[in-house]
Amino acid sequence: MKLMAFVGSPRKGSNTDILIDKVIAGARSKADIEVKKIYIYDAHINYCNGCGAHTVFGGGKACPLKDDMAGILKRMQEADGFIFGSPNHGRTISAGMTNFFARMMPLLKMHVERDDADNIIHAEARPLIRGKKAVIVVSQGDFSPSSSALVLLVMQANLRDFQLRQVGEVFSTGNLQRAQVTDKQNDLNQAFGAGVRLVTA
Ligand SMILES: Cc1cc2nc3c(=O)[nH]c(=O)nc-3n(C[C@H](O)[C@H](O)[C@H](O)COP(=O)(O)O)c2cc1C
Repeated sequence: MKLMAFVGSPRKGSNTDILIDKVIAGARSKADIEVKKIYIYDAHINYCNGCGAHTVFGGGKACPLKDDMAGILKRMQEADGFIFGSPNHGRTISAGMTNFFARMMPLLKMHVERDDADNIIHAEARPLIRGKKAVIVVSQGDFSPSSSALVLLVMQANLRDFQLRQVGEVFSTGNLQRAQVTDKQNDLNQAFGAGVRLVTA
């Protein structure tokens, strides 16, 4: 089984990364897996410039930005499941993760029907990764779970847009310090369980 993990924190080896590793450990405990972990902040991923080349109106062309993203999108189509992890930055997902979801847009592939006058009468997304499994990982500083509601909603909504099947959610609070989650056995167990579901659900 081929998995891809996306670390949306600029801090390597910190909370998001540690939880993602636990998800991977859970998956590995139940299946023979191959994992490609991508540190979004280390990868060469340019900002989406909104050119719209990949859209129906842009002619469904390939993204013109020359960076690591073309290879990542190709690999995503060959993968069976994904782990998307982000810290709460300013009450939402990190800037790197926001841009990453924007750069995934070429995978959406809109299917359109037109009438005789060439007007679009029906449009439907047919994501190239539809139906694949995904786990969400979120870490935040605030102890109150409700303050991260927006982070989770943004993550869930993006997964839905790509018609991914969310099989697990790891949400760890009170992690103000670097790698603080190391002491939170419940959260680490939650992550392990999500990894198990990633390969068994
Ligand atoms: C720029 C920035 C903004 C943050 N904004 C929030 C926030 O709005 N709410 C919150 O609970 N934590 C916030 N935090 C704290 C992080 O979410 C928290 O420390 C998290 O565990 C970091 O994950 P990491 O160690 O994987 O980077 C913020 C941290 C940074 C650096």
